[in-house]
Amino acid sequence: MLVTVLLLLVTLCAQGGHGEEKVEAQRPGHVSVVIVGGTGDLAKKYLWQGFFELYVNQVSSGNTFSFFGGGLSPEDQGTPVLFEILKAVFCLKHVSEERCAVLKEQFLRLAQYRQLKTPEDYQELAKHIDKQLQEEGMTEAGRLFYLSVPAFAYADIAEKINNSCRPTSGAWLRVVLEKPFGHDFRSAQVLASQLGNSLKEEEMYRIDHYLGKQVVSKILPFRIENKKSLDPIWNKNHIERVEIVLKETLDVKGRIPFYDQYGVIRDVIQNHLTEVMTLLTMTLPLNLSSSEEVTQNKLQIFSSLLPLGKNQAVIGQYQAYKTEVQQELNKTKDHVSVTPTFAAVLAHIDEARYDGVPILLISGKMLDERVGYARILFKNDIFCLQNHNSIHCKPKQIVFYFGHGSLQYPAILVSKNLFKPALMDEWKEQTEHKDVNILGLPISDYYVQTPTVQREAYAELISHIFAGRKNSFISTENLLASWGLWTPLLSSLVSSFPRIYPGGADNEDLLDIRLKGNDISYNSEVVIISPDQMGGTSANGFQVMQGKYRSADMVSAWAEELVERLAADIQEAAEAAVREGGVFHLAFSGGSTPLALFHRLVLHHFSFPWRNTHVWMVDERCVPLTEMESNFHSLHDHLLQHVRIPYYNIHPMPVQLNQRLCVEEDGAALLYEKEVSKLVNGSRFHFVLLGVGYDGHTASLFPGIKMDGLEERLVALTESPVKPHQRMSLTFSAINRAHRVALLVMGKGKHELITQLSRTKDNPNKWPVTGVKPANGRLVWYIDYDALIG
Ligand code: BG6
Repeated sequence: MLVTVLLLLVTLCAQGGHGEEKVEAQRPGHVSVVIVGGTGDLAKKYLWQGFFELYVNQVSSGNTFSFFGGGLSPEDQGTPVLFEILKAVFCLKHVSEERCAVLKEQFLRLAQYRQLKTPEDYQELAKHIDKQLQEEGMTEAGRLFYLSVPAFAYADIAEKINNSCRPTSGAWLRVVLEKPFGHDFRSAQVLASQLGNSLKEEEMYRIDHYLGKQVVSKILPFRIENKKSLDPIWNKNHIERVEIVLKETLDVKGRIPFYDQYGVIRDVIQNHLTEVMTLLTMTLPLNLSSSEEVTQNKLQIFSSLLPLGKNQAVIGQYQAYKTEVQQELNKTKDHVSVTPTFAAVLAHIDEARYDGVPILLISGKMLDERVGYARILFKNDIFCLQNHNSIHCKPKQIVFYFGHGSLQYPAILVSKNLFKPALMDEWKEQTEHKDVNILGLPISDYYVQTPTVQREAYAELISHIFAGRKNSFISTENLLASWGLWTPLLSSLVSSFPRIYPGGADNEDLLDIRLKGNDISYNSEVVIISPDQMGGTSANGFQVMQGKYRSADMVSAWAEELVERLAADIQEAAEAAVREGGVFHLAFSGGSTPLALFHRLVLHHFSFPWRNTHVWMVDERCVPLTEMESNFHSLHDHLLQHVRIPYYNIHPMPVQLNQRLCVEEDGAALLYEKEVSKLVNGSRFHFVLLGVGYDGHTASLFPGIKMDGLEERLVALTESPVKPHQRMSLTFSAINRAHRVALLVMGKGKHELITQLSRTKDNPNKWPVTGVKPANGRLVWYIDYDALIG
């Protein structure tokens, strides 16, 4: 039996403060709340708690309620699940324990589970509500349907509601929808028109929970309240840039079937961050209560935004995502997803006021911290000669801090070198702080204000739905305008391969970005390839690709083609050198990687100027040249004996002198160095071929190598951690003098190394290969696809 709670008739009115939305009085009476998907995750986590808070706030308002949790299961199964959820609702601090217990008991009695599957189920529900109204002799205020179900079910449910669940005349119908509202402009348009067949625009409440966040909902009131201080500086002359950032630490495990189709741009940037952007930049409405005016001003921003293309975005994907996709979508190991889990987008508004002001929207999963904020960074033209800690030398900024991060609570922060902001209604000034730094400033350098009572976004929005405040929801026009902005960018990114990042603090500066005019790029260059560029995943679909790796040029292809290309490049360098000076000095490394190259050079030896080529060794193992382990032995067997090169053009390293191997006093390194100096002009080899070992060594320069005293040397005796330990090697100074250096890396086994190196700064002591930096020459990485993409 329904318990009716009939109390005073009051005028419903939204929060009072100046400039805030006032809502017309609505007829009090009975309100039926139906959560379709009432036992799902969202309902469990936020919705029932939100409706309970609504009930607590409205219990004395003259309205009465009934609550229905709808689901697909039959009643005997759904009922216990629903009540398990309802038992967990709680009261906010200001409600006494006794009162809370009474209210909770009433709330539970007002709620029931209903199976909502077929049109008949909806008809039954409507009959039930009508009967209740009649039996209790109540006037109906309205019906609120919250669709907490996958979007594909919206149109069908909206139709059932329209066919059988409309309220009695004079009462309102509000249908609440959760994103996703389509995945691009077209699909959003289709969905909007399907919904439009059943519901009127004013009946639809599209939720973007960011609009319910306390700080976000105060952006416009803050701008209005502080208009005097802000007006002179809210423009291109004063704003350096705007940043809207949502960083998350979690991955998307468990949500992959949804997420892999959407990615970070559709999941949070197209909606949450875009909404914040419009609130920050729109012309202030004269009347904040007018949702038409607010929408029009938002639409104005959408129409002024410059189109977004490939150069306005960078994307990334955390490393483990690939495996999560393979597992959750039952894909094979070679399945590649290009769905971005990180994106940074640079927008510009083509309006005189914001001309040239960069607006950054950034979000990602598996980042170093969980934090959300919008920051307006102002230009600071003061140069402090002596006291850099003086407040007027510091960043001038306003930060709308949504929550989490080092502050842990929502707040609006205005740096003290700007102005003292007016205190928002129902907010308090925060003067006692823990010692934290917010975006480059100690908290004590800010005026800080925070809500007196913290509320969940959903609870806030539920109260707005109940009050009919449409400002906090997404209208169809607004939605389509947003998709109109994002769809071209999404299409242009379809074949882009995201930068892979390790996740958490290990991302270091890998995702740092750089702005240049209207373009955005990653600050450090590492490989970005697209499956398109790879020509599919089979060696038949070969294509050679050029790119950048560790800021140097990179050539990549399947192994065979890569070797082909390297051989052609060596030949071209040889011909050019011979043309210019009659001789070509080429230095080869040992190991197994160059064998395929030797093979290729042998096959085409007739066209190569071997007669004018001098072959040098990059490094050698201290073993007799006749032994299999000797690099020269391998070079001889696989290349030299097959080509027509004069004997005196061949320069093995003299590792064996005085019938002993690599003894310092024998001066073998010096001997080789002298030979190089004598024959090679300026000791600059024309071409040096290097490889890289799993530990990052190159030539015979191993991690931990002491370079002191070697700066001037071209050749040195070195130590390897593996046998044979003693080595002779060209030094960095010999290598870095070369005209051209090629780093050849092949095989899946080198993938981890390539990934690691792509994010390692120069540190030759730890990663010797990072010391390869030709001073006046050119370094090119030749990396096969196995090593590049694993
Ligand atoms: C949701 C996205 O809309 O917003 C999630 O689907 C994201 O992927 C969440 O984690 C972020 O919201 P909040 O309130 O935690 O910042």
